[in-house]
Amino acid sequence: MEVQTISKRKFFKRVILFISLIFCVDTFKRMSGKYILIFSLLTFVLACETMPTSNKEQSIDNDSLINHQQSHANIDEVSLDSLSLELRVNFDSQTLNGSATWFIQAKEAVNEMVLDIRAIEVEKILVDGAKVTFSIGEDHPVYGQGLHIPINSNARKVEIHYHTLPNAQALQWLSGEQTSGGKPFLYTQSQAILARSWVPCMDLPAKRFTYSAAIYCEAPFRPLMSAENPQEADESGWYHFTMQEPIPSYLLALAAGELEYRAYDERCGVFAEPVVMDKAFKELVDLPKMMTAAEALYGPYSWGQYDVLFLPSSFPFGGMENPRLTFATPTILAGDGSLVSLVAHELAHSWSGNLVTNRTWNDFWLNEGFTVYFEQRIMESVYGRDYSDMLRVLGFQDLQGTLEEMGPDNPDTRLYLNLDGRDPDDGMSDIAYEKGRFFLESLEHLVGRERFDLFLKTYFTEHAFQTMTTVGFVDYLKTHLLNENPSWEEQANIEGWIYQSGIPEGFVPPTARAFAQVDSLSPLLMKADKQAIAATKNWTTHHWLHFIRSMQAPVDTLQLRALENEFKFSRANSEIANQWLVLAVRSNWVAMIPSIEEFLISVGRRKFLMPLYGAMNEGNANWKSTARAIYKKSRKGYHAVSVNSLDAMLLEKAD
Ligand code: BES
Ligand code: ZN
Repeated sequence: MEVQTISKRKFFKRVILFISLIFCVDTFKRMSGKYILIFSLLTFVLACETMPTSNKEQSIDNDSLINHQQSHANIDEVSLDSLSLELRVNFDSQTLNGSATWFIQAKEAVNEMVLDIRAIEVEKILVDGAKVTFSIGEDHPVYGQGLHIPINSNARKVEIHYHTLPNAQALQWLSGEQTSGGKPFLYTQSQAILARSWVPCMDLPAKRFTYSAAIYCEAPFRPLMSAENPQEADESGWYHFTMQEPIPSYLLALAAGELEYRAYDERCGVFAEPVVMDKAFKELVDLPKMMTAAEALYGPYSWGQYDVLFLPSSFPFGGMENPRLTFATPTILAGDGSLVSLVAHELAHSWSGNLVTNRTWNDFWLNEGFTVYFEQRIMESVYGRDYSDMLRVLGFQDLQGTLEEMGPDNPDTRLYLNLDGRDPDDGMSDIAYEKGRFFLESLEHLVGRERFDLFLKTYFTEHAFQTMTTVGFVDYLKTHLLNENPSWEEQANIEGWIYQSGIPEGFVPPTARAFAQVDSLSPLLMKADKQAIAATKNWTTHHWLHFIRSMQAPVDTLQLRALENEFKFSRANSEIANQWLVLAVRSNWVAMIPSIEEFLISVGRRKFLMPLYGAMNEGNANWKSTARAIYKKSRKGYHAVSVNSLDAMLLEKAD
């Protein structure tokens, strides 16, 4: 289908070019004059310039083209300078209450400013101090509403008084029972388009602004933001924040809870609930090394401070790269640092994503593919090649699984996505992450690491605090790297990687030395061979993940039980336990149901929930009903992001 569309476009382009050529020659013949010739040639050149070159035209650098995907905002007409927030965190009513003031500049003849809102109750709006009558558009189930504010081109300050509603999608209000320390907790998750449910804003990655905030919350709670975090409240209980670097709305973040801070050095540390702190601090002890490694690769860290906040376990993601303050799941607290690549990932976003930002969610791979590549390089630099090779192979296995699931011709397996009119969450798959990473690795192999590193470093520096489109990146790649050798552009196979589905032919899958050992020991481990068991003493989480993945379901339950007795996989860290429990379901090992239930009640990370509920949902009637029964109990503890995906799987399709 899609291939046809592209070739139709090409055909159309050629027809127009041909007609304009005939027009040139013909007018020249009939009127013969140099001005006519110049005019005709200009027509020809213009026709060439304005024609799309393939399906790439969707991402032409034009604001009006990027807005109509997932936002109501009139971004062409109003530019944003800064935002000033004043909000009270109210745990009793589960609302944020206060105002958002935008400092703006409007173009000539503009008569309104349109912002995105969702589940927000607007109380009043003042433009330059005078109250105005606003209107609110129709509610879209995913994009929410447009908030229409009358302004003229001189307007500078738009002050919106509002409160959030308890169903605001970005916010999760947790009761004391849902946190480790027994105290309520609030956190936001704004990416991709949920910021609009707690701040009226132009909610798309193309718009950047600086912000300041005053946040009130009662002791012992302490608010934190993706900004400069104050240590103390002022005498009236307000905390004051500033973010001096311009950021897009999806990086707005707030958390509040009983939180402690412990520093590794003068620029990085950890926030966590007091009972989690010791574990959290130990787990991320290599954070300063990661920062040094990252800076050595791609230049100085631009955001001043880098801290990690451990959230309660309902957090639907592994991590979120909120500037200066990564939000992280406590499921990476494995006790031995074995899951810290996630922090390398979020740290890497301080360059890829936060500094150079995908212009639209169609360009999501520019954020995530680059970040996985960068994360891998940090891991290699801190922990060595053998270790990072394992991560790469696991990533490739994930990609293969996703490709199989999505099907070879699925357009969503292209790096450059078409999410117009859809929920950008649909684009969050291993394609952007892993296919993106392997594309960049293939470029590294083509031009050599040294050249590629210099290229990336320059790319980040030259585009700092700007957005980037896929087309923009491809142009930059061609003119700043591939032009150095006449055969590179063809060998890079940009078309295959970015605009076609699947993985380009000829791609050589990665390997890891450590996994060869796993493969050779596996048959012996299955027979509980004592020597083989002894040889696993130094295995890391990644060895075990590879081992579990290599078992094809259904596995005999007696065999599974023997392995469980020996290695206690269901009680191991979250990654191992999750894979093990998925295998248990696929092998119809019903004795594991209590462990599965315990896992699903205590963890809200969507990456773990989907495969486990998914496996149950694909099982027999008993598994299906078990899945629904567990979901019924746990649903209220999950964040809206996870609930959306799980409802679609378990409720709508239920019969
Ligand atoms: N920025 C993403 C999380 C995200 C993406 C949230 C799209 C909403 C929409 C974050 O950096 C991320 O990629 N997290 C991963 C962890 C990573 C190690 C692959 C996750 O949460 O699993
Ligand atoms: Zn990421």
